[in-house]
Amino acid sequence: MMKKTLLLIGLATSLSWTACQNQANKTTTDTELSDSGFTATIDGQEAKLFTLQNSKGAKATFTNFGARIVSLWVPDKDGKLTDVVLGFNKAVDYHNPEEPYYGTIVGPFGNRIAKGKFSLDGEEFTLPTNNGANTLHGGFKGVHFAAWEGKQEGENKLTFSYTLPDKNEGFPGNIAMTVTYTLTDDNALEIAYSATTDKKTVVNLTNHAYFNLNGEGSGTILNHSLQIYGDQYTPVDSTLIPTGELAAVKGTPFDFSQAKTIGRDIEQKDEQLRYGGGYDHNFVLRGDKVDQLNHAATLIGDKTGIKMDIYTEEPGLQFYSGNFMAEKVTLKNGKKDAFRTGLCLETQHFPDAPNQTSFASTVLEPGQTYTTKSIYKFSL
Ligand code: GLA
Repeated sequence: MMKKTLLLIGLATSLSWTACQNQANKTTTDTELSDSGFTATIDGQEAKLFTLQNSKGAKATFTNFGARIVSLWVPDKDGKLTDVVLGFNKAVDYHNPEEPYYGTIVGPFGNRIAKGKFSLDGEEFTLPTNNGANTLHGGFKGVHFAAWEGKQEGENKLTFSYTLPDKNEGFPGNIAMTVTYTLTDDNALEIAYSATTDKKTVVNLTNHAYFNLNGEGSGTILNHSLQIYGDQYTPVDSTLIPTGELAAVKGTPFDFSQAKTIGRDIEQKDEQLRYGGGYDHNFVLRGDKVDQLNHAATLIGDKTGIKMDIYTEEPGLQFYSGNFMAEKVTLKNGKKDAFRTGLCLETQHFPDAPNQTSFASTVLEPGQTYTTKSIYKFSL
């Protein structure tokens, strides 16, 4: 009898110990997303959750509402999976004008268009101004608030499609877009974009993921190390519209040509940093080629050792250091989106290109197909 009781106590202890151990192995960012939180009707549109995984255990989830990355799990230096993209637990949380484009595709024109105006062949187009005097990320109802159609092929490839109707937020043309996410076995997330139009228009698509390579909710990104493969950037006016100049980064806080921590120079007295409230600027990529793509940036999380390399066909990279994050929303792991706890590295053509003749053109004509690709590769 005694023996049996001892055995039972032993078993119970070892079971609860195992439970504790499992608990201990859970990280603060270890959030299980439920399909139910993502099966929703938003504005009459159906949203759902998609999951990609590779043979190495990396995993990413997406919602068709904005063709967004919801989470991205990659191994850290101890082999533990860490969620490096900020997002929400429920699809409806993304439907909020205060929501600063978490993980979403922005378009048809990512970044700013000065005073909400541009002309094509002498015809002037007027867009709603949703960012002070300017239009940002396709206006109030850009593609971030659209339910794209999602089609998954196998475990690691997912294509979202959406046709923006003619004159949506003032942009000409029915613009048919696809975005294909592929999670490869070398822990890279590839994003391939395409677009066609039936009227001459402007297109500049990008992904607006907020990264924290130490894990969502793990504090600020100021100790992340960042290298940007560019020697120039596009200085802006006080409304964050490029002046048209390509300025050398050398000798300025914008010099990330050698790796340095994001926090090192961010508080320097500098007019450009003041305009952005930190970094919110487009860098001109030098064109260092890796497998025919421009090496754009290398970002390393100081706590996890997770390294992210970005490669792209695009000529520019907008680096935004999360300066407007102000604890307005609650993220997946229950933490608020505190100041500079995430950062964006958006591959793109230069801001306000439709109004700046010296910048590479973003015009898309009927009969042409816009294609571009960017890769976010994770290693240690
Ligand atoms: C972009 C802009 C920033 C800011 C964020 C969203 O990346 O460049 O100025 O508006 O989106 O908060």
